[in-house]
Amino acid sequence: MDQETKKHTVAKAALNFIEDGMIIGVGTGTTVDFFIEELENVKSRIEGAVASSESTNKKLKQKGIPVLELNSTGDLELYVDGADEATKHLHLLKGGGGALTREKIIAQASRRFVCVVDDTKLVDRLGRFPLPLEVIPMARSAVAREIVKIGGTPEWRSNYQTDNGNAILDVHHLQISDPSSLETLLNQIPGVVTNGIFAKRPADVLLVATESGVDSYT
Ligand code: A5P
Repeated sequence: MDQETKKHTVAKAALNFIEDGMIIGVGTGTTVDFFIEELENVKSRIEGAVASSESTNKKLKQKGIPVLELNSTGDLELYVDGADEATKHLHLLKGGGGALTREKIIAQASRRFVCVVDDTKLVDRLGRFPLPLEVIPMARSAVAREIVKIGGTPEWRSNYQTDNGNAILDVHHLQISDPSSLETLLNQIPGVVTNGIFAKRPADVLLVATESGVDSYT
């Protein structure tokens, strides 16, 4: 089974978590794109969706799925999103697509976070994938110097602006042995809006597509 088929299979498996009348938080990325395709088939059952990016917003609307604002929905029952890396402890590394801030906001505001990945994303320890930081543009170099002090190698994602008008630093070579502590530490650096470690609010359910089916971790 190729990676695209795995992404589609695991995205479809997330439909099992949908209940009638729900408003669903919808993440960003190529795996979630398959989820949006599948969501179109059950759209009559849901009240609408909250989008984690402008790109997802557009795709949901193209499928005729009502897009609602988190400010008016209150907390959500369900959030479905992908990840760049995931562990069996349900810790995630996210932000490869640059949508990490809105993703983290929606994850925090959701009662159940179902993360959908293929088995190439499953790791024993986070950090092989460079860790994205969303930073205020004028703080970019200052934050990069702080990152070097803690052993990381920051790389500016040039010619890229987040949906919030900010910059992204992709940080290589960080040892993420304690994801929750590093998440907190990075949040303390002035100018950092969000970092891509999702450990303080991890997934509640991790669905992993493999050659033989979909494994579930809770
Ligand atoms: C978006 O900012 C990311 O957090 C995505 O969730 C992540 O990059 C997964 O994307 P793919 O499904 O395209 O691998």
